Amino acid sequence: MKLAVNIDHIATLREARGEREPEPVVAAGICELAGVDGIVCHLREDRRHINDRDLKLLKEVVRTKLDLEMAATDEMIKIALQTSPDIVTLVPEKRQELTTEGGLNLKSDKSKYKKAIEELHSKNIPVSLFIDPEPANVDLAVELNADIIEIHTGKFANTNSEKDSITELTKIAVTARMAAELGLIVTAGHGLNYKNVEAIKSISEIREISIGHSIISRAVFTGLHKAVRDMIEILNS
Ligand code: PXP
Repeated sequence: MKLAVNIDHIATLREARGEREPEPVVAAGICELAGVDGIVCHLREDRRHINDRDLKLLKEVVRTKLDLEMAATDEMIKIALQTSPDIVTLVPEKRQELTTEGGLNLKSDKSKYKKAIEELHSKNIPVSLFIDPEPANVDLAVELNADIIEIHTGKFANTNSEKDSITELTKIAVTARMAAELGLIVTAGHGLNYKNVEAIKSISEIREISIGHSIISRAVFTGLHKAVRDMIEILNS
């Protein structure tokens, strides 16, 4: 299972003081040296962490794979077409949320996502859709011609009992299998940490996971290189 690291929190720390450090692009380099398969950044409408300069620098420096997370707005699509990241992950975005709260509502915004995917494909940018683990979302992702689905693991990560955890994990596994059988690349992310990733690891259809918070939190104490290595070791064990 591959690992992509979301470096938004490095920019969050910088923005907390309005200073010039720490630089997300330096974090991206350290993650790559530690062996990650990709770097993820979320350019939000309010630029609360990653900004346009970060994205430009990341595009120049990242050697593995740059995944730009963004809302499907005209402004973001224009930026993506200009920047040409290796992948665009479309996510829902609410101004007040602390982090992405759920998957895309593909059913009610079908034409919006269809148009966004067509535009990104016109520049050969593969598109990933961040979805809740429900079979109907897989059908819609196929219909919309998405290349990848990222299964939202947040609900699984927040469960408090073994029973709920198994229920959520089953939903993720069923969705992953269905998507893989229909030819989609399957990834997963949100709320994954050094403990709960073990269960996700057992779902063979999930090719890659995207982790931000837990790795950056551990990095405060261990350094970023070790925090990444610790996660890679778990994924490889
Ligand atoms: N995947 C998506 C689509 C996200 O929005 C986020 C959070 O930015 C992540 C993965 C990573 O989540 P976490 O920070 O909880 O590891």
